[in-house]
Amino acid sequence: MNNNIILTDDGSNSIFNCNIKESYHSRYGAINESQHVFINYGLKFVSKKEIKIFEVGFGTGLNALLSYIYCENHKIKIDYQTIEKFPLKKAYYSPLNFSDQLKIKKNIFTNLHSSKWESKLEISTFFSITKYAQDLNDFKHEFYYDLVYFDAFSPEKQPELWTEKNFKKLYDNLNYNGILITYCAKGLIKRTLKKVGFKIYSFPGPKGKREITQARKI
Ligand SMILES: C[S@@+](CC[C@H](N)C(=O)[O-])C[C@H]1O[C@@H](n2cnc3c(N)ncnc32)[C@H](O)[C@@H]1O
Repeated sequence: MNNNIILTDDGSNSIFNCNIKESYHSRYGAINESQHVFINYGLKFVSKKEIKIFEVGFGTGLNALLSYIYCENHKIKIDYQTIEKFPLKKAYYSPLNFSDQLKIKKNIFTNLHSSKWESKLEISTFFSITKYAQDLNDFKHEFYYDLVYFDAFSPEKQPELWTEKNFKKLYDNLNYNGILITYCAKGLIKRTLKKVGFKIYSFPGPKGKREITQARKI
């Protein structure tokens, strides 16, 4: 993968993938977008003290870092499972400025990245992470989740990930009252989510985006 580090409008970095010509986050603000979509309209909607999360696309680790901060602040336990087909090399993740922007010690972010793939690491009393260096399309889910962060590249760039088959697998591996949250608000994606059984809710998007989609298993 051929990548560039970019600066987004809220002062946080992101990565631009030159092969598919798409950035990992919104150019209006990486932290702003991730916080809005995945934390405010995902994690904050789960009212449990122990939460299992599955993330599609670990990428820069920003969603994991924001989830870590949330669970430390709210004293809830998170078991974070994440999949990534193209893990970023240290040369790309190391300069990212998320820790400075979020005023948190850099070693947490470094630990998220340097933890061994396919094995669980307890980052703190409240947060553990297991990363899978695998392709979502071949992934066999072992667990049931309360929350899915569906953060793949866009359906235009990676239609092979936004499929009925992948959504059905995720639906089947969600607990009742579980939520799948995504930045995508395309009609086709909402219809596909609905087809596999989800109930669809639309919420206002972060800066630069009209709507986002929350899909619930109820
Ligand atoms: C929009 S970016 C993810 C952003 C990430 N959540 C973050 O906070 O930086 C999409 C991610 O999905 C990964 N990806 C692409 N194809 C994949 C596949 N088939 N299976 C799993 N991950 C994939 C990409 O390498 C990229 O890291």
